[in-house]
Amino acid sequence: MVKKLIAGNWKMNGDLGTALTLTREIVAGIDADPRLAGTCDFLLCPPFVHLARVRANLGQKNIESGSVMLGAQDCSEKDNGAVTGDISAVMLADCGVQAVILGHSERRQGHQETSELVKAKATQAHKAGLIAVICVGETETEREQGTHFKIVETQIKASLPDGANAENTVIAYEPVWAIGTGKTATPEDVRSMHKFIRETIGNMRILYGGSVKADNAADLFSTENVDGALIGGASLKSDQYLGIAKSV
Ligand code: PGA
Repeated sequence: MVKKLIAGNWKMNGDLGTALTLTREIVAGIDADPRLAGTCDFLLCPPFVHLARVRANLGQKNIESGSVMLGAQDCSEKDNGAVTGDISAVMLADCGVQAVILGHSERRQGHQETSELVKAKATQAHKAGLIAVICVGETETEREQGTHFKIVETQIKASLPDGANAENTVIAYEPVWAIGTGKTATPEDVRSMHKFIRETIGNMRILYGGSVKADNAADLFSTENVDGALIGGASLKSDQYLGIAKSV
């Protein structure tokens, strides 16, 4: 069985104390249930400023085995230089980061990030040896208009850099209307879109994201071509996050 990737996107939440408590609770939960390391890979994506401290709390065994990975929520499209406020992929790798979320809809919409920019960022991530978790997904209007497959296909084709493969790239399908809203896509919506993405990208992992919780994860994980979840709100509670993993 291919392990499911359980990715927590903590977004801009909490302080250092809550980040470390959450990390310790999650690591303790994973260590307490050896079955989990056999069924899941874990990825925790705290805010930039907490990365180093969270890493120090992941536990040497988990870091070495790669079963619990550290991720960032964005990186620069540039190598280095006069780019005030940005963080390069090389800097992230230097802090022990293994993956980076790119093109989240909150950045595509709130920071006007285009797929071309996401592609440039993913190129930097790959050069630094990071896994790029590239987010795609349609808005509610686009789904109502029936253009969701076309939108997702266009985003994928324009966001993936040359050399993207199953080792260095993960796709997260996150319908924008399902993020943080409590609305989840129907099993048929998820099945048909993940099948479509699989046909577009081949064997890269495809995560589903958008209001994933412990009580809807089992249905999602039993859906064909769902290789894991990108979890926002529910990843901030260790019992929810671990509950999602346990439903694999
Ligand atoms: P949500 O967020 O789980 O809170 O809907 C998902 C995401 O934005 O990645």
